[in-house]
Amino acid sequence: MRGFITDPTGRAGLRLDDDLPEPEPAPNEFLLGVRAYALNHDELNLIRRRPEGWRPGQDAAGIVLRPAADGSGPPAGARVAAYLDWEGWAERAPVPAHRAAVLDDRVSFDQAATLPIAGLTALRALRAAGVVLGRQVLITGATGGVGQFAVQLAVASGAYVTAYVSRPEKRVAALELGAHRVITSLDEQDLGPFHAVLDGIGGPLTAQAVRRMAPRGTLIWYGNLGGAAELRLADFYGQAWNTHVVGFISPDPDETKGEDLAILAALVAGGRLVPRIGFTMDWEKTPEALEALAEGKIYGKAVLTLP
Ligand SMILES: NC(=O)c1ccc[n+]([C@@H]2O[C@H](COP(=O)([O-])OP(=O)(O)OC[C@H]3O[C@@H](n4cnc5c(N)ncnc54)[C@H](OP(=O)(O)O)[C@@H]3O)[C@@H](O)[C@H]2O)c1
Repeated sequence: MRGFITDPTGRAGLRLDDDLPEPEPAPNEFLLGVRAYALNHDELNLIRRRPEGWRPGQDAAGIVLRPAADGSGPPAGARVAAYLDWEGWAERAPVPAHRAAVLDDRVSFDQAATLPIAGLTALRALRAAGVVLGRQVLITGATGGVGQFAVQLAVASGAYVTAYVSRPEKRVAALELGAHRVITSLDEQDLGPFHAVLDGIGGPLTAQAVRRMAPRGTLIWYGNLGGAAELRLADFYGQAWNTHVVGFISPDPDETKGEDLAILAALVAGGRLVPRIGFTMDWEKTPEALEALAEGKIYGKAVLTLP
């Protein structure tokens, strides 16, 4: 079987291996014929950190080749999206039945592949922020993999959404996602107060965001692409009294990943959620796609397709 493995001498730290062992699914796992997968920012770190020969790949979509032996999960031939821990960048992969959702014909494999990590993070982060109907929500990294879903889901939930983007040229993209206001600085006038903040950037931005929050608001802190954040009690003095800061870990809970994927897939099928795909290529181009992701050249998700 063919699939990518880590190799420090290869481009982007990867090599396409032509002779991997066939997967041996556990009783609660089905065998997925992978047709598309998407890249996530954290996979850049994983590829660097894991030993040589490790097999990356968390987001995948494809066809069930062999159902789970214990009878759980989708039947043979079903089109599915799947949330894996690793080994997804290959022709075939074992998938725990509870981590997959069956796809409507209106959802393409490319779209489905974008949903697992980024979509679930956005959905669950927004859930953790509570009811946002009619409330002001700030989303940082708004045109990134997670951010693009977070903006659309928050707008669909009835929030007034302010999208923070790092560069003015991303303004239009954020407006296209449905954001009501787009900012490139938290020093702008008349911002907030925000009932909820979804922050994937960290660094100085987190404290700046807290200073713009409403009393008893919730800041969901899920990423730190901008570096370590430093908070002082004084950041809460202005108006963010008793605001909650949640150190957010999206893979928890594990047992409802398939359910949450099904929610996202249904929204895509109904045209209410539109995954922004900034890069689609044959899967042999995975190293090139990873480099483009690392250089911040991809708007939305990078998707790799298998024949
Ligand atoms: N906690 C969890 O469970 C969880 C789950 C998923 C992801 N994450 C983390 O969340 C973060 C975002 O993931 P992602 O997949 O959305 O990444 P992504 O697709 O690379 O998007 C990141 C966005 O952040 C912006 N950005 C990057 N560096 C920035 C900086 N220094 N200042 C301001 N904006 C910056 C980029 O905007 P520009 O192009 O405009 O610069 C880009 O739109 C990563 O750190 C990832 O590891 C955590």
